[in-house]
Amino acid sequence: QWIYLNGDYVTKENAKVSVYDHGFLYGDGIFEGIRIYNGNIFKCKEHLDRLYDSARSIMLDIPLSYEDMQAALVETIRRNGLRDGYIRLIVSRGPGNLGLDPKRCPSAWVVIIVEQLAIYPEEAYRSGLVSVSVSQRRNIPDALNPKIKSLNYLNNILVKIQANLAGVGEAIMLNAQGYVAEGSSDNIFIIKQGVVYTPPCYIGALEGITRAAIMELCARLGYKLKEEPFTLHDVYVADEVFFTGTAAEVIAVREVDGRMIGKGEAGPITTHLLEEFRKIVD
Ligand code: PDD
Repeated sequence: QWIYLNGDYVTKENAKVSVYDHGFLYGDGIFEGIRIYNGNIFKCKEHLDRLYDSARSIMLDIPLSYEDMQAALVETIRRNGLRDGYIRLIVSRGPGNLGLDPKRCPSAWVVIIVEQLAIYPEEAYRSGLVSVSVSQRRNIPDALNPKIKSLNYLNNILVKIQANLAGVGEAIMLNAQGYVAEGSSDNIFIIKQGVVYTPPCYIGALEGITRAAIMELCARLGYKLKEEPFTLHDVYVADEVFFTGTAAEVIAVREVDGRMIGKGEAGPITTHLLEEFRKIVD
C-alpha cells in the first residue's frame, strides 16, 4: 500500500506525521472521504470543491493547485492498483509549536490514503440497521459550521461512542433545538406517504455529496422531496428511514429507539433509490 505524503509516495510504515502537527494537537485541518467505483473517482469535483471551500473558510492554504490535487489522487489510486475502494484525503495545518496559533505552522500537510472498503455487509442493505437517537447535540452554524468538513470530529466520535454503547451501527444526532440533524457520519432521510424528507443543512448537517446525489435522483425518478426540519416523532412514524454517506451509500434503518420503521426492513423507495444509486456509480 502506497500513501501520498506531501508529494512523496511512502509505505504505510513510513507514513508518519509530527507530534507537533496541529491536526494531531488540535484537530486543525480538513478532510474528504471519496469513493472509487470501477476505477473512477465518484463525484471528484464535488469533493474537491468542498475541500477547497473548507480550506478557504478556515484560512488554510492547500499547497497544491486543484489540478495537482486531482493528479495526486489519480496517481495514488494507480500506485495502489485499486478499481474499487475508498480515498481519505487529509490536509492538516501542518507542524507548528505547542501554541494553537496557526501562524506557527509554515506549511499544510497533505496525505492521501487509498484502501479497500466494506462498511456494512450486503445483507444489511436489505434488512436495514437498528439505530438510536443520542443525547450528544450537533454543533451548529454559530459554533463550528457543519459545512466545514474539519478534522475536529470529537462531536461525531461522542455520537459513535453512544452508538457503540447501544450496540448499533449508526445513531441519530439532534441539534440544540431538538430537530433531527444527521448521523455520526451520514446524512438522514425519512419517507412519509411517498414524500422524501431530509433536514436542511442549517439544522446542523454536513452538505453531503451522497445526500445531493439522492436529492437529484429523487427529482429524476419523480419522488417529491422536501428539505425541511423534522423531529424524532416524525422519524418514529415514518414509513421509511435511511442514511446516506460516501462509505455507507444508501442504508435503510429498520428500527429507531425501539420503534419499528415500516415493515421492519428496507422499504420500497429506499430500495429503489439504492438500486438507482448503484446504477449511477457503476
Ligand atoms: N462521512 N455527515 C457527516 C458528519 C459526515 O462525516 C459525512 C461523511 C456525511 C456524508 O457526506 P458524504 O455523502 O459527502 O460522504 C454526513 C464519511 C467521511 C464517509 O462517509 O466517508
